Amino acid sequence: MTLPTIPEARSLAQDLLEDALPRRWSHVQAVGTKAERISGFLGSADGQVLSVAAWLHDVGYSPNLVSTGFHSLDGARWLRTQGIDARVVALVAHHSCAWLEAIERNLDADLHEEFPREESAVTDALCYCDMTTGPDGQDFDAAYRLTEIRSRYGPNHLVTRFITKAEPEILAAVRRTEDRLPALHPR
Ligand SMILES: [Fe+2]
Repeated sequence: MTLPTIPEARSLAQDLLEDALPRRWSHVQAVGTKAERISGFLGSADGQVLSVAAWLHDVGYSPNLVSTGFHSLDGARWLRTQGIDARVVALVAHHSCAWLEAIERNLDADLHEEFPREESAVTDALCYCDMTTGPDGQDFDAAYRLTEIRSRYGPNHLVTRFITKAEPEILAAVRRTEDRLPALHPR
């Protein structure tokens, strides 16, 4: 298993998303770029893991590799087949509270059996990058982003149920990251 370089991760995501899902690709470019920009506080090794995971976090939306329809799990499974570093794969599997979405989809046993869930500053930072970035790559306040997701999917969708359950944990992860980034968020 290998840890891709950041340019390798970027080009892998580009191949999978740019033509098939241009809007998703806009989001991913902004999330990856944000991760690269903030990753310094983690040190170089964890910083690279964060940046690579950020570029790869949404590859599971690619029509080339959809299997269950649960993008975190589909993406992680595909990345594992490509020999990608296990820690990156597990971060993708669980990104932005995916373990709570897995419950809604009855896939939580599969997710936990196959991929360990890391709880760390890297996990929080990945959630921060994803949840402060809108669907077109805009910078969003996390609370607004959650509202936007709910309105995009509608009141009865399982993603809306998931986001409502995950909101406290998502906002806490964003807040913890902001606390670790004093230069970006002076108090
Ligand atoms: Fe995302």
